[in-house]
Amino acid sequence: MSTPSTPAASRSGHPGLASSPFLAAVRGEPVDHTPVWFMRQAGRSLPEYRKVREGVGMLESCMDPDLVVEITLQPVRRYGVDAAIFFSDIVLPLKAVGVDLDIKPGVGPVVAEPVRTLADVERIPDLTPEHVGFITQAVQGLVGELGGTPLIGFAGAPFTVASYLVEGGPSKEHARTKAMMFGAPDVWDALMRKIAGIAATYLEVQVAAGASAVQLFDSWAGALTPADYTEHVMPHSAGVLARAGALGVPRIHFGVGTANLLTLMGEAGADVVGVDWRTPLDRAIPLVPGKAVQGNLDPTLVFAPTEVMTARAAQVIEAGRAAPGHVFNLGHGVLPSTDPDQLARLTDFVHAYPVG
Ligand code: CP3
Repeated sequence: MSTPSTPAASRSGHPGLASSPFLAAVRGEPVDHTPVWFMRQAGRSLPEYRKVREGVGMLESCMDPDLVVEITLQPVRRYGVDAAIFFSDIVLPLKAVGVDLDIKPGVGPVVAEPVRTLADVERIPDLTPEHVGFITQAVQGLVGELGGTPLIGFAGAPFTVASYLVEGGPSKEHARTKAMMFGAPDVWDALMRKIAGIAATYLEVQVAAGASAVQLFDSWAGALTPADYTEHVMPHSAGVLARAGALGVPRIHFGVGTANLLTLMGEAGADVVGVDWRTPLDRAIPLVPGKAVQGNLDPTLVFAPTEVMTARAAQVIEAGRAAPGHVFNLGHGVLPSTDPDQLARLTDFVHAYPVG
């Protein structure tokens, strides 16, 4: 008989997970309601988040297991969403291995010494579970508190993380990043391998501690042509997704502005393809045959009158029926000025909407 401390037992988790609509939908199994969660559901839109973050830096809060547990639970308590997403950031594992970076409010990740050469890449240590003991602690604490609500672990995909490392901060054009990709393929390859290894280990740590699913965020992949994505990016993301797949958890693969890349992102090894709000689900679904989809209400629709928002949510749910499974979400993160009461109404609407 297995004991609760065996890895297999910890992966199978709380008995309530067996009836999770989120886990059923991602596997293409029947659900009694359409599951819903929101990217960036924890964060500045919530007064309770702003309160616990008072005087505590973003990175500091990500490294404090008690705060991570509290912040991750806040939207689950408030909305009754069908999944929690681990409160952290895509650059956190870089910080954990010693890259000098900060997350500046209203700006995003800023890297003190941008990566430009092979020597710069080689200076970045590989991630080991010992670098992120606080993550293991936070995830273990969370799965205890969450009961039957699954926890989604996540990592930034190699291209998106590379963009922050090479540009030194947020970028619209990703010009230096793409210049490295086109002009210094050996440096690019080394950098992508480095980040892919870090991302995969980061996901392994979260799953070993009890996360039930993972999402790979390639937020800025939409800046690439399909040919460049295929040649320079996809093999590295596929490597991360393969290592996550070996853990037996469902894998969600999400990017923004990826209408041209959805098929490739599915083929990279996703079980669920996250669709941003620009691509209607009825167009996206035929591009990812056999895959479940996640998305994709325009995040600004929460600022419309409730009945306008819910009418558009209904269209998303109806379109989602063509996929083997559909997880309702926004088509990118919750905007900080979002009224939480509107998200509560949206959650209730999705839950009450008839399935099939
Ligand atoms: O609720 C959740 O979704 C979990 C938490 C989460 C954060 N970042 C917290 C955060 C997740 C999944 C991320 C991922 C992330 N971080 C991505 C991929 C998802 C996406 O939005 O495309 C990206 C590109 C980043 C990089 C990053 N970090 C950005 C663009 C920003 C916002 C900058 C700003 O202040 O507007 C951050 C900071 C950040 N990450 C915040 C939060 C809650 C805001 C910082 C704060 O509250 O002080």
